[in-house]
Amino acid sequence: MATSGLAAATAGSVKLSCPKQRSTRPRGLLGPAHPARGRALVWTAAAAAGSTVRGGVGDKGVYDASVPREQVEIARSLNAWVEENMLPLLTPVDSAWQPHDFLPCSAGGDEADAMAAFTEGVAELRAAAAGVPDELLVCLVGNMVTEEALPTYQSMGNRSEGLADDTGVDALPWARWLRGWTAEENRHGDLLNRYLYLCGRVDMRQVETTVHHLLRNGMEMLVPKSPYHSLIYGAFQERATFISHGHTARLAGQHGDRTLAKICGVIAADERRHEAGYTMASAKLFELDPDGMVCALAYVMRGKVTMPGQLMSDGARDDGDDLFARFSAVAQRAGVYSASDYGDLVEHFVRRWRVAELATGLSGEGRRAQDYLCGLAPKIRRMEELAQQRTARSEPIEARFSWIYSRPVILG
Ligand SMILES: [Fe+2]
Ligand SMILES: [Fe+2]
Repeated sequence: MATSGLAAATAGSVKLSCPKQRSTRPRGLLGPAHPARGRALVWTAAAAAGSTVRGGVGDKGVYDASVPREQVEIARSLNAWVEENMLPLLTPVDSAWQPHDFLPCSAGGDEADAMAAFTEGVAELRAAAAGVPDELLVCLVGNMVTEEALPTYQSMGNRSEGLADDTGVDALPWARWLRGWTAEENRHGDLLNRYLYLCGRVDMRQVETTVHHLLRNGMEMLVPKSPYHSLIYGAFQERATFISHGHTARLAGQHGDRTLAKICGVIAADERRHEAGYTMASAKLFELDPDGMVCALAYVMRGKVTMPGQLMSDGARDDGDDLFARFSAVAQRAGVYSASDYGDLVEHFVRRWRVAELATGLSGEGRRAQDYLCGLAPKIRRMEELAQQRTARSEPIEARFSWIYSRPVILG
């Protein structure tokens, strides 16, 4: 996981809020935000459905910290299944890639030779990076910052009852998955960070300050202890990051930076494996508890969840600016992650988990959740069309990012 930050959403007129000031606005899962052009472009699933947030747990629009015990037990009962089906998805350390594999050489052989190879490698990296446009750099920084907040996401996993690594060295398969996943994810932020540092195109101190702020600000979870919500959220986030890093790889290649294309490509491949794990686990839970899972999925899609990078700030402004919303708007325009991707994501998971085919074992609430989910993707697409029409009619606006020395970038 650790996704590109893709999306705060707002309702009514947009008020860009400072991350330090908690907003009461509805927030959605993985839908792009649009910071400030006339009326708000609202991409939350909640807005698409015209509904208010309604809890799957507690049913009051606010989460209940407690989780039904049977859900925890069902998640725990999957340990043998995780051993057999999920742990093999993790790459053994001996055959895993490391950040150094994609960066100028600074290891092995004679020290003088290594220094010469390093100097030459840095020069080549910088020459290729010179052609990367500013909007792609902004997307890259936003994705890197989000990846670097990994400690937040690991602690999130350890908050999920039935999945947590209770001792820090737990031998249970869920705990081993969580540690192995974290170890693989850790390379993503490292690799992107080092590329950005070496390329010389960004103000690294501003980037580092943003990481620092994001870690301090944290991430608001929907139902923090629920294994169902955590696994659904993990599946969505991994797929969103796979899409985002994959698009960045393609765009980097088009602009002549093959090193960056490889870097983003190898990270995207990791995200794909992780997505497979969380998606399979969720599918298994749909088999075992269709009613609990369809309610959990609807609850997650109805919003009230922050994106991993949503509380990012560079500390450079104190005027209610929402850095995450600006970053998301650039990602939308650059084609790194768009509203269309969000619609595809929803459609993909509703189909993959066979939501429309669920029949037996659904409560009244489960059936309502099923109806809502089956109609969601078309509603998102209609909203996307309307938003595109509005965008086409309005004047482009610029934003400046401290990450790239305050050079202006057009927002989407
Ligand atoms: Fe991942
Ligand atoms: Fe990642």
